[in-house]
Amino acid sequence: MKIAVYPGSFDPVTMGHMNIIERASKLFDEVVIAVLVNSGKTPLFSLEERVELLKIATAHLPSVTIDSFSGLLVEYMDKKKINIIVKGLRAVTDFEYEYSMALMNKKLNHNIETVFMITEDKYAFLSSSKIKEIYKLGARASDLLPPHTEDILIKKIESLKNK
Ligand code: PNS
Repeated sequence: MKIAVYPGSFDPVTMGHMNIIERASKLFDEVVIAVLVNSGKTPLFSLEERVELLKIATAHLPSVTIDSFSGLLVEYMDKKKINIIVKGLRAVTDFEYEYSMALMNKKLNHNIETVFMITEDKYAFLSSSKIKEIYKLGARASDLLPPHTEDILIKKIESLKNK
């Protein structure tokens, strides 16, 4: 049984993430989306909200499950007995960061394999940070977010404005 972990902050999940998740679910028997509890940056969405948004967005994919982790990814994977990491590569600019992370994870645990999937070109410029920025500034890009995520994002930004 081939199980892969797809780790990230998912603050919030975008169609770029969904593209990788859907394609990875065809390559592996199971895909565990591992949401990082605390990345050092303050997320817009709480862990529970990020997990919930992912659950809704992946409800049509029976082999995909959502989990969360804190600390080292390799330690989480050791506990779960998983040795494959799936990462999306958007552009050359991602490469250096992802390359060093893959090498460090390999150094920490030699059994870990990182599999890179090239993001579809229509999502190559997309990131959760850019989405948050444009929505906060009043722009919309509905085709870049799962529908439910967009509604919740708009509500979240409105609720922060009213504080
Ligand atoms: O969505 P992101 O923020 O790009 O995801 C980054 C993530 C969660 C994959 C990465 O920061 C991570 O694995 N963090 C856990 C801590 C860890 O294991 N660090 C060592 C990696 S070299």
